[in-house]
Amino acid sequence: MFKHNKVSGPVGQVARSGKETTDPGADCGDKDLMSRNMTLFKAEMGDAEFQRFSSLIHSEFGIKMPPSKKVLLQSRFQKRLRVLGFESYEEYCEYVFSPEGQQNERQHLVDVVTTNTTHFFREPKHYDILNNIVLPEVWRNTGSGRDVKIWSAGCSSGEEPYTLAMVFSEFAERHPGFRFSIQATDISRDILQKAMRAVYSMDKLEEIPQGMRKKYLLKSKNPAKRLMKMNQTIRSHVQFSQLNFMDDFKLNFSPDILFCRNVVIYFDRPTQEVLFTKFCNHLAVGGFLFIGHSESLSGMKLPLRSVAPTVFQRI
Ligand SMILES: C[S@@+](CC[C@H](N)C(=O)[O-])C[C@H]1O[C@@H](n2cnc3c(N)ncnc32)[C@H](O)[C@@H]1O
Repeated sequence: MFKHNKVSGPVGQVARSGKETTDPGADCGDKDLMSRNMTLFKAEMGDAEFQRFSSLIHSEFGIKMPPSKKVLLQSRFQKRLRVLGFESYEEYCEYVFSPEGQQNERQHLVDVVTTNTTHFFREPKHYDILNNIVLPEVWRNTGSGRDVKIWSAGCSSGEEPYTLAMVFSEFAERHPGFRFSIQATDISRDILQKAMRAVYSMDKLEEIPQGMRKKYLLKSKNPAKRLMKMNQTIRSHVQFSQLNFMDDFKLNFSPDILFCRNVVIYFDRPTQEVLFTKFCNHLAVGGFLFIGHSESLSGMKLPLRSVAPTVFQRI
């Protein structure tokens, strides 16, 4: 479909596991499907089940799930109930906490409860700060001696790390010898698979500056599909892997630049502080941290100095 369609970057950990049967709704007639959906429509999640799910989601994925989210959780779980053939949230809850469910269902829970909204060049001021302040300083410090390491933490479907790859490629063009590599991680296996494919709707074209479109994007040969793909050069700069921030993780590199934007907004304050402390332990001294525009580190005891709103430097 595309001129180059090999996806680079290993995501070894993103392997399918689970005993899941095929969607029973998929090959039954419309009437069967309707009656099944009506059964689900009637099913309601009890407070006890919600409490169990909510504690699990908070302790395992860091995501806060207050009682106001019950209806949302219920509707997001409906498809899983249908796929697995359960008729009540009670049955589903028993399954999730059973040894078999712990083995097979946790990854589906992640895919269902995470919010993956993202764009190319989201929060564009950050890219001005990168170009005007951060990259010149990083280049002064590293020169052509080594690769600059970037970590896009909570990368969703890849728009953020691919935006970084385009911005860094432009900088490299203006500064011969500048080299970089981007590690992009997310907890959700489904979203990482989408990120690795690097295929997006043409509706997103507008998000990318005109001058970069021809350089870094491939359009589908069939215009009716309205799809585009990041080109091989951009893809080759980004490696994806699965990582849950709640795990006791160790990185095999010290990022010079860390983007963790619009992720911790779903976490409570104590979890955010623990996480940013971990990030600071990994970030290179003198390295830069970017957080989302609606996020804040105020009141946290962290070895950081402020560079600009939502941009910090490790001291
Ligand atoms: C709203 S997206 C943000 C994407 C991008 N950083 C941006 O600003 O556009 C949040 C991402 O954080 C990921 N996430 C949520 N909890 C996580 C966890 N415990 N560990 C790692 N990633 C997590 C979600 O899967 C989701 O893709």
